[in-house]
Amino acid sequence: MAKPPTSKTPVRSSPGGRKLGQKVKKSKLKASSRRWLERHLNDPYVQRSKHDGYRSRAVYKLLEIDEKHQILKGAKRIIDLGAAPGGWSQISARVTDSTDTDPKVAAIDFLEMDPLPGVRFIQMDFLDDAAPDKLMEALGGAPDVVLSDMAAPTTGHSRTDHLRTMYLCEVAAHFAVDVLRPGGHFLAKTFQGGAERDLLTFLKQNFKSVVHVKPPASRAESVEMFVLAKGFKGRKQVEREEAADLG
Ligand SMILES: C[S@@+](CC[C@H](N)C(=O)[O-])C[C@H]1O[C@@H](n2cnc3c(N)ncnc32)[C@H](O)[C@@H]1O
Repeated sequence: MAKPPTSKTPVRSSPGGRKLGQKVKKSKLKASSRRWLERHLNDPYVQRSKHDGYRSRAVYKLLEIDEKHQILKGAKRIIDLGAAPGGWSQISARVTDSTDTDPKVAAIDFLEMDPLPGVRFIQMDFLDDAAPDKLMEALGGAPDVVLSDMAAPTTGHSRTDHLRTMYLCEVAAHFAVDVLRPGGHFLAKTFQGGAERDLLTFLKQNFKSVVHVKPPASRAESVEMFVLAKGFKGRKQVEREEAADLG
Protein backbone atom coordinates (compact mmCIF):
# COMPACT_ATOMS: atom_id res chain seq x y z
CA MET A 1 0.00 0.00 0.00
CA ALA A 2 1.19 3.49 -0.72
CA LYS A 3 1.77 5.49 2.42
CA PRO A 4 -0.11 8.80 2.65
CA PRO A 5 2.26 11.76 2.78
CA THR A 6 3.30 12.71 6.29
CA SER A 7 4.81 15.95 7.48
CA LYS A 8 8.19 14.25 6.91
CA THR A 9 7.40 13.32 3.30
CA PRO A 10 9.07 15.89 1.04
CA VAL A 11 5.89 16.86 -0.80
CA ARG A 12 6.41 19.93 -2.89
CA SER A 13 4.12 21.61 -5.33
CA SER A 14 5.24 21.79 -8.93
CA PRO A 15 4.49 24.54 -11.44
CA GLY A 16 2.08 22.01 -13.00
CA GLY A 17 0.09 22.11 -9.77
CA ARG A 18 0.61 18.40 -8.97
CA LYS A 19 2.31 17.31 -5.78
CA LEU A 20 5.83 15.96 -5.83
CA GLY A 21 6.93 13.17 -3.48
CA GLN A 22 4.27 10.78 -4.76
CA LYS A 23 4.46 7.02 -4.26
CA VAL A 24 3.10 4.45 -6.68
CA LYS A 25 1.03 1.59 -5.23
CA LYS A 26 2.60 -1.85 -5.22
CA SER A 27 0.48 -3.40 -7.93
CA LYS A 28 1.21 -5.70 -10.83
CA LEU A 29 4.05 -3.39 -11.84
CA LYS A 30 7.58 -4.78 -11.61
CA ALA A 31 9.67 -3.05 -8.93
CA SER A 32 11.90 -1.45 -11.57
CA SER A 33 8.87 -0.10 -13.49
CA ARG A 34 7.37 1.22 -10.27
CA ARG A 35 10.62 2.99 -9.42
CA TRP A 36 10.70 4.52 -12.93
CA LEU A 37 7.07 5.69 -12.63
CA GLU A 38 7.67 7.19 -9.20
CA ARG A 39 10.75 9.01 -10.43
CA HIS A 40 8.82 10.26 -13.46
CA LEU A 41 5.83 11.47 -11.42
CA ASN A 42 8.08 13.23 -8.92
CA ASP A 43 10.41 14.79 -11.45
CA PRO A 44 10.01 18.59 -11.35
CA TYR A 45 11.16 18.83 -14.98
CA VAL A 46 8.35 16.48 -16.09
CA GLN A 47 5.81 18.59 -14.26
CA ARG A 48 7.28 21.80 -15.58
CA SER A 49 7.16 20.50 -19.16
CA LYS A 50 3.43 19.79 -18.78
CA HIS A 51 2.89 23.24 -17.35
CA ASP A 52 4.91 24.90 -20.13
CA GLY A 53 3.17 22.90 -22.87
CA TYR A 54 6.27 20.96 -23.98
CA ARG A 55 6.17 17.38 -25.15
CA SER A 56 9.19 16.21 -23.17
CA ARG A 57 11.38 17.01 -20.18
CA ALA A 58 14.28 16.76 -22.64
CA VAL A 59 13.35 20.27 -23.76
CA TYR A 60 15.08 21.71 -20.70
CA LYS A 61 18.37 20.01 -21.60
CA LEU A 62 18.35 21.84 -24.92
CA LEU A 63 17.22 25.12 -23.36
CA GLU A 64 19.91 24.92 -20.65
CA ILE A 65 22.64 24.09 -23.17
CA ASP A 66 21.45 26.93 -25.40
CA GLU A 67 21.35 29.40 -22.53
CA LYS A 68 25.00 28.71 -21.81
CA HIS A 69 26.36 28.14 -25.33
CA GLN A 70 23.97 30.09 -27.61
CA ILE A 71 23.57 27.62 -30.43
CA LEU A 72 20.02 28.39 -31.54
CA LYS A 73 20.13 32.17 -31.77
CA GLY A 74 19.72 33.30 -35.37
CA ALA A 75 19.33 29.75 -36.70
CA LYS A 76 17.35 29.78 -39.93
CA ARG A 77 17.04 26.02 -40.44
CA ILE A 78 17.38 23.12 -38.00
CA ILE A 79 17.50 19.34 -38.32
CA ASP A 80 16.34 17.28 -35.33
CA LEU A 81 17.51 13.63 -35.28
CA GLY A 82 15.64 11.26 -32.95
CA ALA A 83 12.85 13.78 -32.51
CA ALA A 84 9.92 11.93 -30.89
CA PRO A 85 7.88 12.90 -28.97
CA GLY A 86 8.89 16.32 -30.30
CA GLY A 87 10.20 18.58 -27.52
CA TRP A 88 13.37 19.68 -29.30
CA SER A 89 11.37 20.13 -32.52
CA GLN A 90 8.97 22.47 -30.68
CA ILE A 91 11.89 24.67 -29.63
CA SER A 92 13.43 24.46 -33.11
CA ALA A 93 10.19 25.54 -34.78
CA ARG A 94 9.90 28.47 -32.37
CA VAL A 95 13.42 29.82 -32.80
CA THR A 96 13.27 29.57 -36.60
CA ASP A 97 9.73 31.02 -36.86
CA SER A 98 8.89 27.92 -38.85
CA THR A 99 5.41 27.50 -40.30
CA ASP A 100 3.73 24.80 -42.35
CA THR A 101 3.81 27.01 -45.42
CA ASP A 102 7.48 27.90 -44.90
CA PRO A 103 8.98 25.01 -42.89
CA LYS A 104 12.44 25.51 -41.36
CA VAL A 105 12.68 22.32 -39.32
CA ALA A 106 13.08 18.73 -40.51
CA ALA A 107 12.85 15.95 -37.97
CA ILE A 108 13.25 12.17 -38.06
CA ASP A 109 12.44 9.28 -35.76
CA PHE A 110 11.57 5.66 -36.31
CA LEU A 111 8.73 6.12 -33.82
CA GLU A 112 5.53 7.92 -34.68
CA MET A 113 5.29 11.58 -33.74
CA ASP A 114 2.14 13.70 -33.56
CA PRO A 115 2.30 16.52 -36.11
CA LEU A 116 3.83 19.82 -35.00
CA PRO A 117 3.27 23.13 -36.81
CA GLY A 118 6.31 24.08 -38.89
CA VAL A 119 8.01 20.68 -38.56
CA ARG A 120 8.43 18.32 -41.52
CA PHE A 121 8.56 14.94 -39.84
CA ILE A 122 9.93 11.78 -41.45
CA GLN A 123 9.19 8.47 -39.77
CA MET A 124 12.24 6.43 -40.66
CA ASP A 125 15.42 4.93 -39.24
CA PHE A 126 18.14 7.58 -39.49
CA LEU A 127 20.59 4.77 -40.32
CA ASP A 128 18.63 4.02 -43.50
CA ASP A 129 20.72 5.09 -46.53
CA ALA A 130 17.82 7.16 -47.84
CA ALA A 131 17.41 9.21 -44.63
CA PRO A 132 19.94 12.04 -45.32
CA ASP A 133 18.42 12.89 -48.71
CA LYS A 134 14.89 12.75 -47.33
CA LEU A 135 15.83 15.15 -44.54
CA MET A 136 17.50 17.61 -46.90
CA GLU A 137 14.60 17.44 -49.30
CA ALA A 138 12.19 18.15 -46.43
CA LEU A 139 14.27 21.09 -45.20
CA GLY A 140 14.87 22.68 -48.59
CA GLY A 141 18.24 24.23 -47.69
CA ALA A 142 21.36 23.76 -45.56
CA PRO A 143 20.76 23.74 -41.78
CA ASP A 144 22.53 26.05 -39.32
CA VAL A 145 22.10 23.50 -36.54
CA VAL A 146 22.00 19.71 -36.46
CA LEU A 147 20.63 18.30 -33.21
CA SER A 148 20.69 14.64 -32.22
CA ASP A 149 19.06 13.34 -29.07
CA MET A 150 19.07 9.81 -30.51
CA ALA A 151 19.57 6.99 -28.07
CA ALA A 152 19.52 3.39 -29.20
CA PRO A 153 16.72 1.31 -27.66
CA THR A 154 18.15 -0.36 -24.56
CA THR A 155 18.95 -4.07 -24.66
CA GLY A 156 19.76 -4.41 -20.95
CA HIS A 157 23.41 -5.00 -21.88
CA SER A 158 25.05 -1.70 -21.03
CA ARG A 159 28.14 -2.11 -23.23
CA THR A 160 25.96 -2.91 -26.27
CA ASP A 161 23.69 0.07 -25.53
CA HIS A 162 26.72 2.31 -25.16
CA LEU A 163 28.25 1.20 -28.47
CA ARG A 164 24.97 1.56 -30.36
CA THR A 165 24.35 5.10 -29.12
CA MET A 166 27.97 6.08 -29.81
CA TYR A 167 27.54 4.75 -33.35
CA LEU A 168 24.42 6.88 -33.82
CA CYS A 169 26.39 9.90 -32.62
CA GLU A 170 29.17 9.15 -35.10
CA VAL A 171 26.81 8.79 -38.07
CA ALA A 172 25.04 12.00 -36.99
CA ALA A 173 28.39 13.85 -36.84
CA HIS A 174 29.32 12.79 -40.38
CA PHE A 175 25.87 13.81 -41.60
CA ALA A 176 26.27 17.21 -39.91
CA VAL A 177 29.60 17.81 -41.63
CA ASP A 178 28.05 16.87 -44.98
CA VAL A 179 25.12 19.25 -44.71
CA LEU A 180 25.78 22.14 -42.28
CA ARG A 181 26.21 25.71 -43.35
CA PRO A 182 29.64 27.18 -42.47
CA GLY A 183 29.48 28.58 -38.93
CA GLY A 184 26.79 26.02 -37.98
CA HIS A 185 26.63 23.91 -34.84
CA PHE A 186 26.21 20.22 -33.99
CA LEU A 187 24.84 18.93 -30.68
CA ALA A 188 24.51 15.21 -29.97
CA LYS A 189 23.84 12.83 -27.15
CA THR A 190 26.75 10.64 -26.10
CA PHE A 191 27.46 8.58 -23.00
CA GLN A 192 29.71 9.11 -20.01
CA GLY A 193 33.32 9.10 -21.02
CA GLY A 194 32.23 11.33 -23.92
CA ALA A 195 32.69 10.89 -27.63
CA GLU A 196 35.31 8.34 -28.74
CA ARG A 197 38.74 9.67 -29.61
CA ASP A 198 38.39 9.27 -33.39
CA LEU A 199 35.06 11.07 -33.34
CA LEU A 200 36.51 13.90 -31.26
CA THR A 201 39.43 14.26 -33.65
CA PHE A 202 36.99 14.38 -36.56
CA LEU A 203 34.87 17.03 -34.85
CA LYS A 204 37.91 19.12 -33.92
CA GLN A 205 39.06 19.05 -37.55
CA ASN A 206 35.71 20.35 -38.70
CA PHE A 207 34.58 22.76 -35.95
CA LYS A 208 36.20 25.69 -34.17
CA SER A 209 35.34 24.38 -30.70
CA VAL A 210 34.28 21.02 -29.26
CA VAL A 211 33.12 20.51 -25.66
CA HIS A 212 31.22 17.96 -23.62
CA VAL A 213 28.24 19.24 -21.67
CA LYS A 214 25.99 17.81 -18.98
CA PRO A 215 23.05 20.20 -18.44
CA PRO A 216 21.36 20.22 -15.01
CA ALA A 217 18.19 18.71 -16.56
CA SER A 218 20.16 15.57 -17.47
CA ARG A 219 19.79 13.34 -14.43
CA ALA A 220 22.99 13.16 -12.41
CA GLU A 221 22.71 9.37 -12.13
CA SER A 222 22.33 9.02 -15.91
CA VAL A 223 25.40 8.21 -18.02
CA GLU A 224 24.06 10.58 -20.66
CA MET A 225 26.02 13.62 -21.73
CA PHE A 226 26.24 15.73 -24.89
CA VAL A 227 28.97 16.67 -27.29
CA LEU A 228 28.70 20.20 -28.65
CA ALA A 229 30.68 21.19 -31.73
CA LYS A 230 30.42 24.89 -32.56
CA GLY A 231 31.41 26.91 -35.59
CA PHE A 232 31.55 24.51 -38.56
CA LYS A 233 34.60 25.52 -40.58
CA GLY A 234 32.97 24.62 -43.90
CA ARG A 235 33.90 21.80 -46.24
CA LYS A 236 36.24 23.95 -48.37
CA GLN A 237 38.15 25.30 -45.37
CA VAL A 238 38.66 21.79 -43.96
CA GLU A 239 39.91 20.58 -47.34
CA ARG A 240 42.38 23.50 -47.44
CA GLU A 241 43.62 22.69 -43.92
CA GLU A 242 44.02 19.01 -44.80
CA ALA A 243 45.93 19.87 -47.96
CA ALA A 244 48.20 22.23 -45.97
CA ASP A 245 48.87 19.46 -43.40
CA LEU A 246 49.84 17.04 -46.17
CA GLY A 247 51.99 19.65 -47.90
C1 LIG B 1 15.45 10.75 -25.95
S1 LIG B 1 14.36 10.52 -27.27
C2 LIG B 1 14.29 12.11 -28.02
C3 LIG B 1 13.50 13.13 -27.25
C4 LIG B 1 13.34 14.42 -28.01
N1 LIG B 1 14.60 15.16 -28.09
C5 LIG B 1 12.32 15.32 -27.38
O1 LIG B 1 12.68 16.40 -26.86
O2 LIG B 1 11.14 14.99 -27.41
C6 LIG B 1 15.38 9.64 -28.41
C7 LIG B 1 14.68 9.27 -29.70
O3 LIG B 1 15.66 8.77 -30.62
C8 LIG B 1 14.98 7.88 -31.48
N2 LIG B 1 15.95 7.07 -32.22
C9 LIG B 1 16.88 6.23 -31.73
N3 LIG B 1 17.55 5.65 -32.72
C10 LIG B 1 17.04 6.13 -33.88
C11 LIG B 1 17.33 5.90 -35.26
N4 LIG B 1 18.26 5.03 -35.65
N5 LIG B 1 16.62 6.58 -36.19
C12 LIG B 1 15.65 7.44 -35.81
N6 LIG B 1 15.34 7.71 -34.53
C13 LIG B 1 16.02 7.05 -33.57
C14 LIG B 1 14.11 7.08 -30.52
O4 LIG B 1 13.06 6.45 -31.21
C15 LIG B 1 13.64 8.16 -29.54
O5 LIG B 1 12.37 8.65 -29.90
